Parts: sequence; structure tokens; C-alpha cells
Amino acid sequence: MPVPKAELHLHIEGTLEPELAFGLAARNGLTLPWTGTEALREAYRFQDLQSFLDLYYALMAVLRTEQDFEDLADAYLARAAAQGVRHAEIFFDPQAHLARGVAMDTVVDGLWRALGRSEERHGVSTRLIMCFLRDESAASALATLEAARPHLDRITGVGLDSAEVGHPPSKFREVYQAAAALGLRRVAHAGEEGPPEYITEALDVLGVERVDHGLRCVEDPALVRRLVRERIPLTVCPLSNVRLRVVDTLADHPLPAMLDAGLMCTVNSDDPAYLALFSYSYGQVACSPV
Ligand code: HPA
Ligand code: ZN
Repeated sequence: MPVPKAELHLHIEGTLEPELAFGLAARNGLTLPWTGTEALREAYRFQDLQSFLDLYYALMAVLRTEQDFEDLADAYLARAAAQGVRHAEIFFDPQAHLARGVAMDTVVDGLWRALGRSEERHGVSTRLIMCFLRDESAASALATLEAARPHLDRITGVGLDSAEVGHPPSKFREVYQAAAALGLRRVAHAGEEGPPEYITEALDVLGVERVDHGLRCVEDPALVRRLVRERIPLTVCPLSNVRLRVVDTLADHPLPAMLDAGLMCTVNSDDPAYLALFSYSYGQVACSPV
């Protein structure tokens, strides 16, 4: 029996396995620019967050209908359940779909067809967190929150993801205020590639109750003391950090030091279809499948 787990940092679009991507492409009459699943997997060699995001957004082209979003979420929930996940708080990136002409209704209704019966079908309770793309404008984030209003009964909170450096949390002050006024919970990616100051801004300007990644807090001892004192959870994703070259090897990851410092860290997968270390070796550490 696998250890029971909670998954608190998971991008549903990052669970799109190559086999499903090709299946959805065929169903939607699309041709992908890779000859097959092995060729696609070969492309999963990332230099940094941006090189991953380029592929992550490109492959989303196959997600077009409610059924596609349902199939994506249902496949993830089945795999998660098999690995012992009992609760999953799931990010989605509506702006990446709206920009391709896929409506908010299609995305949320499709995801909900899987999430709404996840407890009964997979024994996994779920929450849905809508992320704003931080490399898009603040006005676009506000418009996205507006577009989500008919769906807020199914959306627990808001988050902030995509390319971090140069897009500080303070850019999204207004939309986080609006989200709070609507009763939404608030989290944000901060301190993945961006500096420790972004973690402080996420707390002080956006009012987040949990920080996604938060890794670079280790560079600022006063910030570490604050995170410990205020018991702010950090959703750490060690395998993602290795694959996106935030750290060189798993052995270099600061998670053990973070736990020793008293930080409230949880371990999460981020984008498992792209970032799990399937017998892939970096530096001194070879990792087996997860
Ligand atoms: N970081 C930032 N944005 C993302 C990620 C991530 O790891 N995955 C999907 N969007
Ligand atoms: Zn993430």
C-alpha cells in the first residue's frame, strides 16, 4: 500500500502524458510536430522554467473540448489514487486556454466532470485553484477573474504561476484584493526562480496563506525565521526543481535544511508528466521512477 498523501501543488495541464496528448490530437484532428510519444519525451530536456513553459503551453493545443479536460483530470486522479493521493488541490491556467479560443465554461465544466465525482470514483477529495499567468498583464488577470465569476462555487482559490523573474507579485495587488473580496483563498508561486523578496511581497501585498515553491527563502535568514514563526506552508517540488535546473542535483536540494530550520514544507509533484525523473540522471544522482 502506498503512503497516503496530499498533493497541494499540481498543475492539471502538467499531467498531460504524451500518450493522452497524441490521443486527444487525433480526436481533435490535429497534427503534432513530433513523430510519436518517444520523440515528444525526447524534447523533455529543460534548461530552465521558460524552456519547460514553452513546451507546456504548446502541447495544450490538444485540449479543446469539455471531454478533453474531463479525460485529462480523470487520468490524473486515477494515477494519483494509485500512488496513495487522498486529497489534491489542483491548479489550472485558464488564460492559456482563453487565448486559444477555448471558453472558461469548457475548461471548468470539463474539469468538474472529473473532480465532481473524484471522491466516489477514486477516493480523492479535490479543490480547484485558478492561476493567473504572471507574464500576462494585471488587466488580463482581472478579466480572467471576471470570466470565472459564474464558476466560483467550484473554485476555491487563486494562484499565480508562469515565468517568475521580472513579474513580481505586486503586479497583481488589485486582482488579489478582488479575489479576497469574493471569498477566494490566495496562494502564489514565489521564490522558484525569483528572489526571496517575491516571497515577502506575496505575503504582504497579495495576502497569500501558502507559498508555492518558496525555495529561495533559504537565501534570507530573516525571511526563514518569519515563515517559521507565522507557520506559512511551502509547497516544495524537489523533482521539478532538479528538472528545471533550480538546483543541480537532488542531493543539492535544500529540503532537508528547510525542514531542519522548522519550515512547514510539503512535498509535491508540480507537472508530473513533464518533470518526473524517469530513470533520468543529473550530476551524481540517478533517480528511479516515481
Ligand atoms: N512554475 C511556474 N509556472 C508553472 C509551473 C511552474 O513550475 N508549472 C506550470 N506553470
Ligand atoms: Zn508550479
